[in-house]
Amino acid sequence: MKEFGIFYGSTTGTTEGIAEKIAQALNVDTSDVHNVGNTNVDEVDNYKCLILGSSTWGVGDLQDDWNGFLDKLAAKNLSGKKVALFGCGDSCTFGGSFCDALGTIYNDLQSSGCTFVGFIDNDGYHYDSSTAEIDGRLVGLLVDEMNEPELTDERLNNWIKTIQQEIS
Ligand SMILES: Cc1cc2nc3c(=O)[nH]c(=O)nc-3n(C[C@H](O)[C@H](O)[C@H](O)COP(=O)(O)O)c2cc1C
Repeated sequence: MKEFGIFYGSTTGTTEGIAEKIAQALNVDTSDVHNVGNTNVDEVDNYKCLILGSSTWGVGDLQDDWNGFLDKLAAKNLSGKKVALFGCGDSCTFGGSFCDALGTIYNDLQSSGCTFVGFIDNDGYHYDSSTAEIDGRLVGLLVDEMNEPELTDERLNNWIKTIQQEIS
């Protein structure tokens, strides 16, 4: 079984770009970076650690390609697997539903048996509310390429370090 599989949904390419940066940082081959829009859910069986990414659309909705994939993923037995979440959003225009798609994925996978890794503090983020936040902690890496692109690399690299520590 391979270490990392990255699975993302992206409408305008932002989350796809972050998925590629994560792959580079973790030395993940491009063949292990999957667009959920054209991937069979059983592909996750090949990996010990799943890195799942979605942007947020509508008001707090999953990125479209996750509809259909997340249900099937949540129905699987993910015991023994680590899961890390990342997502892109807009904390200014959509500050009341910032990166809510991550909260949805987190909630929907609660019964799957997976172990979540890669929680971070919400220090330095500015939003009104997010279902990706639990008691001041974020369930994964939140990226705001619309308003704070200059913070992305540092946030991403710190998050990668957190994951590496938690899975070692
Ligand atoms: C119509 C519309 C609705 C959006 N809704 C949200 C939202 O509820 N929460 C949020 O954080 N971002 C929201 N966004 C911002 C996108 O998630 C953001 O632009 C993201 O970077 C897109 O990533 P993608 O290209 O990978 O799909 C919205 C953007 C648009 C245009």
